[in-house]
Amino acid sequence: MEEKFVIHGGHPLKGEVSVSGAKNAAVAILPATLLASDVFTIENVPHIDDVVVLLNILKRLGAKINFINRTTLTIDTREVNSGNVRIKLAKRLRASYYFIGSLIGRFSDVGVYLPGGCDIGSRPIDLHIKGLTALGAKVDTDYGIFHAVSNGLKGTEVYFDQVSVGATINIMLAAVRAKGTTVLINAAKEPHVVDVANFLNLMGAKIRGVGTDIIRIKGVDSLHGCNYSIIPDQIEAGTLMIAAAATKGDVLVKNVVPVHMDALTAKMLEMGVDVQEFDDSIRVSCNKRLNAVNIKTYPYPGFPTDLQQPATVLLSTALGASVIVENIFESRFKHIDEIRKMGAKVTIDDRIAVVQGVERLTGSQVKASDLRAGAALIIAGLMAEGTTELYNIQYIDRGYDHIENKLIALGADIKREKVEEESIEEFELEFR
Ligand code: EPZ
Repeated sequence: MEEKFVIHGGHPLKGEVSVSGAKNAAVAILPATLLASDVFTIENVPHIDDVVVLLNILKRLGAKINFINRTTLTIDTREVNSGNVRIKLAKRLRASYYFIGSLIGRFSDVGVYLPGGCDIGSRPIDLHIKGLTALGAKVDTDYGIFHAVSNGLKGTEVYFDQVSVGATINIMLAAVRAKGTTVLINAAKEPHVVDVANFLNLMGAKIRGVGTDIIRIKGVDSLHGCNYSIIPDQIEAGTLMIAAAATKGDVLVKNVVPVHMDALTAKMLEMGVDVQEFDDSIRVSCNKRLNAVNIKTYPYPGFPTDLQQPATVLLSTALGASVIVENIFESRFKHIDEIRKMGAKVTIDDRIAVVQGVERLTGSQVKASDLRAGAALIIAGLMAEGTTELYNIQYIDRGYDHIENKLIALGADIKREKVEEESIEEFELEFR
């Protein structure tokens, strides 16, 4: 059943809100449990659609899943006996390729449908294939299946031509059970990459250097279960910080790791937003029109590409022109067509968007094209004058756990509604 958000803008967000566990850590940690045949307890798991899909795939592979509460679950992988993940469900998300890295160390033949995920660019997997091949696996992608065969991986050196979160994590997963030491060069350093490595080390892996450009993984023969709590979601935290500033509100965003937010915090201070950091929370308040700033997205610790779309919306009513350079994905400006319907003035040239600040946005009917575009359009609706109807919100549910409830608790006027079949009034077409 299709749903939409109906948002009445103009309400400053006020109060406190807690961030859920990190999606991009959870979608790797859950498949990583397959590296061992044991029992795990994992806390702070975000209850989002991508996680629900992964849990269903794990169950189909023979894992036993038990929810202790909404965000804590146990996983028992002792009866998983196949590396065949040719499950159509796996097509729905990008992270399904982590089953390859997680299973190739235990099973000699693993296959998963080629990954889906947000349509923000071509999203190749050549670096994943390069790393697995370097470790000694035979990899092919015939018939739309990411397929790897190996009779034992051997540690080696892998140079990533481009910093890749997914490839860094996937090759780390494969390397933990390879014979000998693997060195990953030009590795990704995102907080969720570090979180996955910390989880693997708690399982008995020997990973050093994660969070730097060079990660060393000493292969081990076996791993075991563990209890773990996933880090707070850097991107949800940033989304909520931006929503607070965009609505001229005053919000304490709790359960964050402030240092993970440094790039956004720095930019918000430049814009003239008041940002105060505490041990595990950040207070964002703003009561004036923002200054335009320039943003370039880069791998961590640079400005996160996942916050580029919400930040573009925030800057759409700033004083002056902001230049946004999207260095990571080649087509991550789809939200701009939608905010133009709301009055935004943006020109795009390839990976550069120039946002000319306007007085205000006005409500309109808009649609999400991907997860973070959807989040950006919620923020646009919250800050706009009048009513906004946001369609295709299934994209948003993939990465945020009922974000509307968190926003309502902060004073937003946002409702999730069923999309009624548009009543096409009956009329005879002339000239047919
Ligand atoms: C992860 O995607 C995240 N998804 C993305 O978040 C995030 O935008 C991205 O990292 C960058 O931070 C998950 O973790 C599930 P990459 P991933 O490999 O791993 C190129 C969200 O909204 N590349 O770091 O797919 C690629 O085309 C999602 O939560 C290759 O060329 O991103 C891109 O230009 C959207 N070859 C760049 O590297 C490869 O083999 C970075 O991609 C792999 C990637």
